[in-house]
Amino acid sequence: MNTSERRQVSVVFCDIVQSTAMSCALEPEDLWAVINRYRETVRNTVRVFGGIICHHKGDGILCCFGYPASHEDNASRAVMAALGVLARVQQENHTEDSDDDRSEGARLRLRVGVATGEVAIVDNRADDPGGLELLGPAPSLAARLQTGAGQNMALVDETTFRLTRNDFRFTPARTVRFKGFPGPMTVYQPLGQTCGPTRFERCCAGSLTDFVNRAHEQALLCETWRRTCMGQGQLVLVKGDAGIGKSRLVRHFLEGIGDDGRREIQLQCSALHARTALHPFAVAFTRLIGLRATDTQEAMVHCLRAFLSELGIRDGYSVPLLARLVNLPAAQCLPLLNILTHEDIGQRTTSLLATCLIAMSRRYPVILVAEDLHWADTATLKLLEELSSAATDGSVMIIATFRPHPPGEAPLAGLEAARNCQSVTLDRLSRSHSARIVSSVARRAGASRLPGDWITRIVERSDGVPLFIEELTRTVIDKAGDRALLAQPFAIGKPSDNIPETLRDSLSARLDRLRLGAAGAHSPKWVAQVAACIGREFRKTTLTRLFEKVGVGTTIVPVARTDLAHMLEEAIERLVEADIICPVTCDQDITYRFKHALVHDAAYAGLWREDKRHIHARLLELLEEKAKEETPDTTAELLAHHAFKAGQPDTAARYWLAAGQRAAVRSDLREARACYEEALRLARRTAGGSATARSGAAPRTGPDPACRDKPRGVHEERTAIEMEALIALGTVEMMETLRKRHPVSAAAALCPSGAVGHERSRVAH
Ligand SMILES: Nc1ncnc2c1ncn2[C@@H]1O[C@H](COP(=O)(O)OP(=O)(O)O)[C@@H](O)[C@H]1O
Ligand SMILES: [Mg+2]
Repeated sequence: MNTSERRQVSVVFCDIVQSTAMSCALEPEDLWAVINRYRETVRNTVRVFGGIICHHKGDGILCCFGYPASHEDNASRAVMAALGVLARVQQENHTEDSDDDRSEGARLRLRVGVATGEVAIVDNRADDPGGLELLGPAPSLAARLQTGAGQNMALVDETTFRLTRNDFRFTPARTVRFKGFPGPMTVYQPLGQTCGPTRFERCCAGSLTDFVNRAHEQALLCETWRRTCMGQGQLVLVKGDAGIGKSRLVRHFLEGIGDDGRREIQLQCSALHARTALHPFAVAFTRLIGLRATDTQEAMVHCLRAFLSELGIRDGYSVPLLARLVNLPAAQCLPLLNILTHEDIGQRTTSLLATCLIAMSRRYPVILVAEDLHWADTATLKLLEELSSAATDGSVMIIATFRPHPPGEAPLAGLEAARNCQSVTLDRLSRSHSARIVSSVARRAGASRLPGDWITRIVERSDGVPLFIEELTRTVIDKAGDRALLAQPFAIGKPSDNIPETLRDSLSARLDRLRLGAAGAHSPKWVAQVAACIGREFRKTTLTRLFEKVGVGTTIVPVARTDLAHMLEEAIERLVEADIICPVTCDQDITYRFKHALVHDAAYAGLWREDKRHIHARLLELLEEKAKEETPDTTAELLAHHAFKAGQPDTAARYWLAAGQRAAVRSDLREARACYEEALRLARRTAGGSATARSGAAPRTGPDPACRDKPRGVHEERTAIEMEALIALGTVEMMETLRKRHPVSAAAALCPSGAVGHERSRVAH
């Protein structure tokens, strides 16, 4: 199916340096072989990191990370792919015979650019295999960055840098001007990956805010450690959503118990290595043994022997098994393994590692922290199970963190069933704890006096998830820029503007997982997006009636009525299972709520603009029908909101007027004023608005002097709604003055038959 949507992606553009000179120097067949090899290298590398090739432009290749399926680390994957392509091409160059003239001419030199940003994606690949278009500044910027890079070098833009600075080492920033882009741009050259035992250590360790709450979980970990030190090994499983604070809890616990002669071993599972057997152990043992990339193979093998003999392990296979695990391919001892089957090697490696860890725990207490087990490979899980049962009468404490798995899957069942296993589930933080994190982040960012309503809004929107709290606070402070802005109301921009850059990929990834296995318009993701137009909360009947109406748009595929009920039932079930929405009432017409405000925003922001307008227009029709049945008081603002989002500012202005008049009838003059001002603002945006008004002047309160002073022609240009809003504002002002002077008579004047009530009858609807 053809689709269009908008989302944040990271784009990689690779190009050959001096390709024209190369085409002159080589025979056409040789040139073809070189180009072919280059394309294959790019294709394979990009695929490994979860990206796709969008198109070839001459020798240039444009690759995309974040579509069709987003990963929570698209930008890092893009930079890894860029460095990977450069390394692979250089490696291949060196395997050529350098004495041969032709091979010298065939040496490839590349330049790569990486940029990240929001793009419109038009995917017509169902009709045309090359029909994938990315529209937005990121693809052109990646191409420009490529031109600014040196030979065999990559350059990244500011956004990519911000998203990946914890994962890679970069050269200091430099500024460059690129054709077509306004002003100088800051660019960075990635040099290689940073090292750090875990994601948390790399990303957060340097900028920790004050630790809040989690006293109960902390106490449980301390008690478990006390028992471990007495020789009763323990396993603690820490479960919780992404960003809820699993790694932070573990770190806080480790800091709390101080340096008591224990050994800490950190295992980090990763999505990229979910199928590489024992990858987390391989990385951890490389660090534990003290192997350095600069050492010779002989020196490394020597280190392995020393490590094993210190633990008293002398089995003949142990050195080659460990050498194989830590990737020492040239080690002379490896041929010893040739007589073993692949399965045998796997089993022996697992028991060797278990033996090493148990042997270590006889000398000193060991804490093994296994981070993000939801990405663990099967061999790692099996080894952890083996270890946890072997540790019951040793001094090993295993702390494993993981995210809840999808329903029906139980990859950790073996660990959960262990005799010495304790489980901790981390919940969202309370409002007061959340507010403490906001203040702590603000203090660190130098914005010590964040206005109270900003804190409240951030707390509301981040739903008690510490990561969301931190990122939202940073985004709000960054956007506010200078201190003066902090005195203004909480900024509300486009929905996508309200989603921190750092969270966009992971929020998209959450929604994309819903699309897997279900086709386009009928997927739960699409249902979530349509529901997001209704609001963070929606009733099932409203969603069903809305779906009956939306199936007539231009880009929207109609849904047959008969399939509708079934499709929605299934989709809602999956959305609940995936923790995207949850039921909040249990009556017959269930109301559902998006669990996180940011997931709601991300679902909404991903919709194509025309689809959004179409859905809001249908919603408006639906609500207008409903408004006839229900009390109109509550719906005027809602109708105004949907009319505005449907691209009908004129209708929206009329509803704001109506909402204002209803507020005035309730004697809520503040609310009435706000509604009238909104009506005025919108009326001035419509075609009939005067030139002054269209220039964006702030709405005035009270009778507009412009009406008196301007020549008649300009006066007549004003729309009827604008005039009505101005009169209404004037009336509100008059009422306020009156109320101050004669409270009793003003109250009488505000009754439905009074001045404002009289105004009300003049407005349409
Ligand atoms: N209890 C807490 N108090 C203060 N900050 C916290 C707390 N829990 C988490 N954080 C912060 O929130 C962010 C995300 O936490 P993290 O532990 O990385 O989440 P997880 O491991 O569950 O994905 C980190 O920057 C962390 O410092
Ligand atoms: Mg973590």
